[in-house]
Amino acid sequence: MERRLLYLSQADVASVGLTMAEIIDLLEVAFGEKGEGRVEMPPKPGIHPGQGDNFIHAMPAYIPAMNSAGVKWVSGFPENYQRGLPYITGLLILNDPETGIPISVMDCEWITAMRTAAATAVAARRLARPESAVLGVLGCGVQGRANTEALNVLFPLQRVMAYDVRPEAVRAFEKEIAATGLEVVPVDHPRQAVTGCDLVVTAGPILKTPHATIQPGWLDAGAFASLVDFDSYWHPQALKEADKFCTDDVPQLEHYREVGYFQDIPPIYCDLGELVAGKKPGRESADERTMTCNLGLAMDDMAVAPTVYQRAVASGTGTWLPL
Ligand SMILES: NC(=O)c1ccc[n+]([C@@H]2O[C@H](COP(=O)([O-])OP(=O)(O)OC[C@H]3O[C@@H](n4cnc5c(N)ncnc54)[C@H](O)[C@@H]3O)[C@@H](O)[C@H]2O)c1
Repeated sequence: MERRLLYLSQADVASVGLTMAEIIDLLEVAFGEKGEGRVEMPPKPGIHPGQGDNFIHAMPAYIPAMNSAGVKWVSGFPENYQRGLPYITGLLILNDPETGIPISVMDCEWITAMRTAAATAVAARRLARPESAVLGVLGCGVQGRANTEALNVLFPLQRVMAYDVRPEAVRAFEKEIAATGLEVVPVDHPRQAVTGCDLVVTAGPILKTPHATIQPGWLDAGAFASLVDFDSYWHPQALKEADKFCTDDVPQLEHYREVGYFQDIPPIYCDLGELVAGKKPGRESADERTMTCNLGLAMDDMAVAPTVYQRAVASGTGTWLPL
């Protein structure tokens, strides 16, 4: 029998029509499984071509309950914007968990954008105040937009305070987000996107040595922050104001620490698996400052990719290639 796989371009992946709400639900299942110790996911190995903070990571995961096995090969090149190219690019291979045979190769940009934001939402559901209405976004690129979309699914958002070092990024963000009905307030100083906000998302470049823009005293009592760009945006003393500092995977964080990241962060309260499985309480009072620093996990991608594949097969999307 001829063996074949389904190739899905970025446009194909996006066109199958998975919604942010559906992706949040898929990640809820995956983190619940992780919390019960039922996900196989070694820390990601990486290579670092060129200079500075460039990376290409291999991210394998197996989630038995979701019948999902595969690997993402993803690049992050912070200077790509100067070439008009995306920061994050890559491919994802999905395997049949029964035979190991590859069944699909797909672009991973869209999935990475959506699942990262959905992981913020999974954390925020347990760590943020339910009535949170004002969001601060620092770094108004792909993640800034996707995180806004995800938080808007779960919270009664009204206003987004938007900061970026590139004013054109804020203008593009404003145009896109204002079209969804949210009020966008472009701000000139990063503090205006932190103080006074119920929810804060930092999504600038990931740097081994943090630029540490956000100072102690900026984050309000009762606020929740999602550090999509690791600790890069935060002064160590500002991080230490957190009453609960979470991550998505402790072994992965330890791995990053060994290679030079996260040299001055607070103790980890728990990971998202423990929160979702109910093994640790989330927010316990209205005054707590809570944070999650989600590193981005292979299981996030593998939670989403099978549904993309199944919908593509059902709708005749993509290109079949011989193996
Ligand atoms: N944790 C995860 O799971 C995960 C997943 C995907 C991406 N990321 C990270 O999220 C970050 C954003 O990725 P993206 O795809 O949105 O990239 P992007 O290039 O679309 O957006 C980055 C934005 O940050 C802005 N920026 C650059 N330097 C800045 C600074 N010093 N202060 C404020 N803004 C600054 C840029 O102008 C740009 O608008 C990257 O660091 C990426 O590695 C994390």
